[in-house]
Amino acid sequence: MKNKLVKIAKDTNYFLKKFIKKQKKTELISAMKYGLFPGGKKIRSKILIDIGTKFNIKYETLIKIGSAVECIHAYSLIHDDLPCMDNDKFRRGKLSTHIKFGESTAVLAGNSLLTMAFEILTSSNLEIDKKIKVDLVQKLSESSGHQGIAGGQYLDLYFEKKKISKNKIINMEIKKTGKLFSFCCAVPAILKKKKNKDIHFFENIGANIGLLFQIADDLIDFQGSYKIVGKKTGKDKKKGKATLISLLGYKNVIKYSQKIKFKIINDLNNYGLNSNDLNETLNYILNRNK
Ligand code: IPE
Ligand code: IPE
Ligand code: MG
Ligand code: MG
Ligand code: MG
Repeated sequence: MKNKLVKIAKDTNYFLKKFIKKQKKTELISAMKYGLFPGGKKIRSKILIDIGTKFNIKYETLIKIGSAVECIHAYSLIHDDLPCMDNDKFRRGKLSTHIKFGESTAVLAGNSLLTMAFEILTSSNLEIDKKIKVDLVQKLSESSGHQGIAGGQYLDLYFEKKKISKNKIINMEIKKTGKLFSFCCAVPAILKKKKNKDIHFFENIGANIGLLFQIADDLIDFQGSYKIVGKKTGKDKKKGKATLISLLGYKNVIKYSQKIKFKIINDLNNYGLNSNDLNETLNYILNRNK
């Protein structure tokens, strides 16, 4: 699994570096690159590739679309660390982008990474049908804006230091984290022009994978250490974040996460799409320590 992630990270970073190199040089590029490279685990791209491979989609196409997703993800992390959001000084084992470059530059570099995702999806470099590109752009913008990451991040901050119900916490986590996973899971079905019913099926799988991923992130914050994780831990409790751990307790959350994992695997089995790769990725998500 580690080797597969390393290869995906290498191919994604290679594509992104080449893509940026072709653009005009600007003052924001250093901050953008700082937020992008060497980058994180590339787990969203891995999911995209796990499912995409099952649909017989070319690896290169999946890497390009995954690169767009990683730009959005990197943008969301740069903004997530800002003083007006989680106010975190470390990310991926180094100083957060705003500490290194200043707040205004971090905001603008984040914005530029967000829009770069759409430059990638619409570039002639990505050789897919124009109509399908429009579908991808529509889905990715939906996943990133107020119905997705931005809306979820609003709720995450609004919920701080409040008593929030389980369903509301789940809804917030699915928005801030799950929607981007929904996009990754739905991409192969979109590329293969599958029916809306199929696209929705994969979006739902993605939402659950994203929820599982965020729960694991919350568990890591609860019990991990900076040295391994590369970001400060124990901060959710300090900030009074509404998480399933704060509501249900550690043991119940572990049980709940197993339930979600089995639901995802069961749904995929019923659909007739089961892959060892995807199972391996789900186990990695749940058992990871960073
Ligand atoms: C961290 O995401 C933020 C969440 C959505 C929980 P990742 O854990 O995927 O971050 P990197 O890309 O590996 O650093
Ligand atoms: C972030 O969740 C989710 C995003 C969409 C960026 P967290 O705030 O828990 O992520 P970390 O722990 O700072 O990486
Ligand atoms: Mg946050
Ligand atoms: Mg944070
Ligand atoms: Mg966290």
